[in-house]
Order: sequence, then C-alpha cells, then structure tokens
Amino acid sequence: MAKPCDHDFAFLQQQSEFMYLDSAATCQVPTPVLEAYSHYYRHQHANVHRASHRLGRAATAALENARNVFAKYVGAEAENIALMSSTTAALNGLAEQLPIDWQPGDEVLLSYAEHHANILPWQRLAKRYKLHLQFISIDQHTGKLGDWRTLLNARTKVVSITAASNVTGAVFDIKTLLAAAKAQGAITVVDAAQAAAHVPINVNDLHCDALVFSMHKVYGVNGCAPLYLHPELWPRMQPFQVGGGIVQEVSPRSAQWVPTIQKFEAGSPNTAAAVAGATAIDWLTKQQPHQHLAQLRTQFVEQLSQRPWLTVLPAGDHTTPTVAFYSLGWQAFDIATWLDQHDIAVRAGHHCAQLLLQQWQLPAVVRVSFGAYNSAADISHFLSTLDAGWDIFSALE
Ligand SMILES: Cc1ncc(COP(=O)(O)O)c(C=O)c1O
Repeated sequence: MAKPCDHDFAFLQQQSEFMYLDSAATCQVPTPVLEAYSHYYRHQHANVHRASHRLGRAATAALENARNVFAKYVGAEAENIALMSSTTAALNGLAEQLPIDWQPGDEVLLSYAEHHANILPWQRLAKRYKLHLQFISIDQHTGKLGDWRTLLNARTKVVSITAASNVTGAVFDIKTLLAAAKAQGAITVVDAAQAAAHVPINVNDLHCDALVFSMHKVYGVNGCAPLYLHPELWPRMQPFQVGGGIVQEVSPRSAQWVPTIQKFEAGSPNTAAAVAGATAIDWLTKQQPHQHLAQLRTQFVEQLSQRPWLTVLPAGDHTTPTVAFYSLGWQAFDIATWLDQHDIAVRAGHHCAQLLLQQWQLPAVVRVSFGAYNSAADISHFLSTLDAGWDIFSALE
C-alpha cells in the first residue's frame, strides 16, 4: 500500500518523527500549492477587477481561472461559483440571505451530524422568525442517516445537510433526501466541507441549490471556500456583505448590484488563496490518493476494533478516511495528550458536532483522520503507541 506523494510535503519531511492524523480539521499543504501561493504574490499580485493595469489583469485572470477549476470540480459553471472565505462564512450568509419570506412555524431540516457551522446560523434565524428546526437522527448502530420522510413536509423551507460526518467519517446518502426536498419546494444546501477531498461531487446529480466546501480541507490554504449557487437561486438573493466591487450604480440612498455571481464577493478577494486552491485541486486530481486512503481506513478500523477496551463509532458503508473512537476506561483528552507526547497529532472532544455526541450519549471521542501523506507504517506506530499508553493507564485504574 504505497502512499502516493511523500516528497510533496516539506513539513512532514522536516519533522519525520511527527505523525499528522488531523486532516479532517485541515490538510497539510503540498509544496506545489505553497509555490503557487508564493508565485502569485511574487509575480501576479494586484487587486482584481478594478485595475486597468496589466498586473491587475493578471490577478483577475488568475482568480477567474481558479473559479473555473472549482466549478469543474463540482460539475458546475463558473458563473455559478462565488468565492467565500470559509464554509462557515458561506453557511452564515446563506441562512441570512436565502430568498424566503419566513413565517412563524416554517421548518428547516438539518441532521444530528451537522457541524456547528451548519446549525448555529439556522438557530439564530429560527429565534428571529420563530422557525422550527428539525433534525434527522443518525443511526447509532449503522452510522447512517436515519429516516427523514416523516420530517419533510410542506412547512420545510430549507434542507441543509452535511455530505459527510466530520466525526465518524460516514458519507451520507443525501441524494434521495435532496430530490424529495426539491420536489416539496424546499431550498437544498449541502455542506461538503468533509466530503470534497474524498468523494466525487456533482451539483446537478445532488439536486442541490447551494453547496460549499473549504479549500484548506482539500490540500489548499485557508481563506477560500467555493460556494455553488443554483443559477435560478442566486439572482433572487441579496449579497451576504455589501461594499466595493459589487455595484453597478450607487445613489445616495440605494445601490444596484452587478448582475453576476461577483455580487457575493464585496471587498478585495483572497486571490492568492484561490490560486493555491486551484493548484490543490490539480494536485489532488493527479495524485488520486482515494484508494490508498480507503485501504488505510479499512485496515485501521479492523485493527482498532480488535481492542476490547475501546469502541469505534459506526460510519456506514461509504466513508471518508476519518475514524472516531472512545474508551470508557481512558478519556479521549488523555488519549490525545498521550499521543501528542509521542509526536502523534489527533483530535479529542466533540469536534464541533455536539448534537451527534448528545444523540448517541457519548463522552468526548478521539478522531483520527488520514491524509495523502499517511501510510500503513503510521497505523502500526499509532497502534503500538496507543497500546503502550493503555497498558500504563489501565494499570492505574
Ligand atoms: C462538516 C463541516 N462543516 C463546516 C466546517 C467549517 O469549516 P471552516 O472552518 O473551513 O469554515 C467544518 C470544519 O471542520 C466541517 O467539518
């Protein structure tokens, strides 16, 4: 099981003792992506769209090229991709600006597996308009999306759902749900932050009106999150923020927005992050680490499951390379601290998904998430370190 791309990660080469198993939080950045970022600032940097000089044109071309790359990656047209700073920013903007005449009692359908970024903006809206938030449960035995049919009804105005759990790694079967939601007249939103690096995405197949992901979880850098908006939706929406670069005309008391997707991009964009993001997509498309990562996950879960003192969370049939587990005899934070003391980086806690842990009545869990730079040797080292810790901690009990 060869890992595809060792040489591309200077960070990991310099710290050969260090094992990074936190890629669901953010990926390490391949050298070609860092080079694209620095090349942009060294050779192309200017503010986009407004400049009439050649550097401005170069920066604009670089930004628009990135938009094209992101569009192709999700099967969309570039004119329907807005560049946001993060998935969080996009979900907040959507909650505030979807063109819905909210009435008390209207419903928003989410799942218990949502990241807080896809709960809190809807909670705020629900308080303001007296909306009802509904939650699809996640089956505790299978890890799959539970039954949503009884929760979808004529009052459901929005279905906003994650394509994959950031805790268990489950890739949810959301296509039928989204098709049914559209048939009901609801607006459908997909949080693809966890899925984008691992699962092919086609916005047309998914029946979604909006879909967003963060490039820092797809081997890019922070500050760029492509947001797809359906061509029949975004012309009916107001900008998330207002300011420079999005107006056709301004009078003392009103303004007219540009008739393009750029109306969602007020202010100076993070062109360097977009350029780096486009290079990350190219890199990922060439590397194709997906099979390697799927094998790593399978092997890891098989071996982890042999330890009777811990429980691996179920994740269904389709997964990202993320695994969560807990032990009733050894707290998650103590496990993560022990691993950190042995140069292994994992996450412990609720992973900004408190509702899932509450629904399953679980304590904090440890999350291990693989990236293209991890190998089978990492698994052996992880497990022997974990076992050594358990020998010590369980003897203290
Ligand atoms: C499923 C999911 N949604 C949203 C987010 C928020 O992404 P960002 O921090 O890039 O805004 C995350 C980050 O962990 C996530 O895993």
